[in-house]
Formats: sequence, structure tokens, C-alpha cells
Amino acid sequence: TRKIAVSGTASGIGKALAGLLRAQGDEVIGIDLKDADVCADLSTPEGRALAVESVLGMCGGVLDGVVACAGVSTFTTLTVRVNYFGVTALLEGLRPALAAAPAPRAAVIGSISGTKPAVPEVVRACLDGLEEEAVESGERAVERGDGRKLYPSSKSALAQWLRRVCVTPEWAGCGIPLNAVAPGVVLTPMSDPLFADEEMRKAMDAAVPMPLNGYAEPEVVAEALRWLVSPANSHMTGQVVYVDGGAEATLRGPDV
Ligand code: NAI
Repeated sequence: TRKIAVSGTASGIGKALAGLLRAQGDEVIGIDLKDADVCADLSTPEGRALAVESVLGMCGGVLDGVVACAGVSTFTTLTVRVNYFGVTALLEGLRPALAAAPAPRAAVIGSISGTKPAVPEVVRACLDGLEEEAVESGERAVERGDGRKLYPSSKSALAQWLRRVCVTPEWAGCGIPLNAVAPGVVLTPMSDPLFADEEMRKAMDAAVPMPLNGYAEPEVVAEALRWLVSPANSHMTGQVVYVDGGAEATLRGPDV
């Protein structure tokens, strides 16, 4: 049996992924604020350390896969803490256990929002590993009315982190593919508020056009993650795979 740690298993995409993995016989170690095998708050350094320590204890120091699904989409600096530092700390903390497995795999969740305008100082501080500096720059962005740029900042920084580390001796050198799935709009509790009124929905459809099959169910995104962390994926790394109904292709156009 493969042992796979998944964050965000109490809801949405993480929950769907845990279901798919368990159905194929994998052992899932779920991490979330509550209703999980490991209950920990990934927004704080203490919570992240607790999560890493608990997972390492449960897997005996050898882990076949890690998928970081936990995330938030508020217009506050919590997005930076959870979506960037919560994800990268979890992956870095569990990396030695991945390196000890025969066919280790890792994946994270980006977003089409990672292609939207970000706050450059926040992205830079994230990539420099300076959490408090990133949060201070984020607070200033909130004060000047740019809070909505923090989620894109967290996802853009995460995609850039992935591109940097995936080819290093610690990841590629240890045989660990590391990729992201970047969804468009997925029907989960996170996106519920977007459907609160017709105006918001129209704004969202303009921002994230999905000509192929519209909004996605969480299982669709989970299927892509499932393949990325399967033994079949021996050579794909550093990729941000858009599972977005054509949003990225529409917005960025034909130049690749
Ligand atoms: P969701 O809200 O259904 O699930 C997120 C899970 O993360 C929840 O169970 C929540 O408790 C957990 N979580 C949040 N903060 C945490 C913390 N501090 N510590 C531990 N766990 C925490 O959301 P959904 O839609 O499943 O989102 C999963 C990922 O997909 C997120 O990274 C999100 O940014 C991303 N995404 C979602 C999209 C959507 O339309 N739903 C679109 C693009 C990306």
C-alpha cells in the first residue's frame, strides 16, 4: 500500500482526492483544521511543525506521496500564510520521508488566479522565505484596497517556488516529481460565495471563462492530482497543469 499525506481532506478537492486514493487502496493521512487524521493549523509555524511531526510518526518516516490541498481564498494575509507558507513548509518538512520511498511523488494546488495581478513585494518575500515580511507587505496592500490581489500573490509565489525547487538535488535528485494542478472555478464550499448573487457570478465568468464544460466538480481536479502522484508519473515535474475548462488558454491566448 502507498501512504499518501493529503492536506485539506475535510472539504472540497482534498476530500475528493482522499476518496479516490482510498478507493484504489492507498492509505491516506489526512491533515486539516478538524475532521482529519492529523488536526493542525497550517497558518502557523507551530501548527505546521505539529503536522509534519504527526505525519512522520504515522508513516514511520517513509511516505510515498504528499498533496497539499488546504487553502483559503480570503482577501486577507491569511491566504499568504496558508496557501504559500503552509504549503511549502509541509512539503519541505515531509520531503525527507518522500526521499526514503521507492517512487515518491508530490503535488500542490495552484490556481488560474496565479496568472492575475499580484503584489510583487509579497511574492518576493514569499520566495525569500520571509513570512513576516510577506505578511507586512500584504497588510499594506489590504490597507490600500488591494486585498483581492493576495490570493493571486500566494498562488503565483507557489508556482514560482515549484519551478525553482523541482529540479534541485533535494527534489529531482531524490527522484521526487513535484507539480501543481491549477483549477479554474471548482464547485466546493470555497467557491460557494461566488454564486451568492448574479452580479458576482457575471464578474467571475468574465475573470475565469470556462468554455469547456463550465465549472468543475472537485473530483475532476482530484483525478489529475491522483495521476500526478501515481507511480505512472516518473518524468513530469515543475508543471502547472491547468484543469480549468480552457480559462488559461482563453486568457493567455495562443502564445506559449
Ligand atoms: P475548501 O474550502 O472546500 O477546502 C479547503 C480545506 O482546507 C478545508 O477543509 C479547510 O479546513 C482546509 N484549511 C484551510 N485553512 C487551513 C489551515 N490553516 N490549516 C489546515 N487546513 C486548512 O476549498 P477547495 O475548493 O477544496 O480548495 C482546495 C484548494 O484548491 C485550495 O488551495 C484552493 O485555493 C484551490 N483552488 C480552489 C478553487 C475553487 O474554485 N474552489 C479554484 C482554484 C484553486
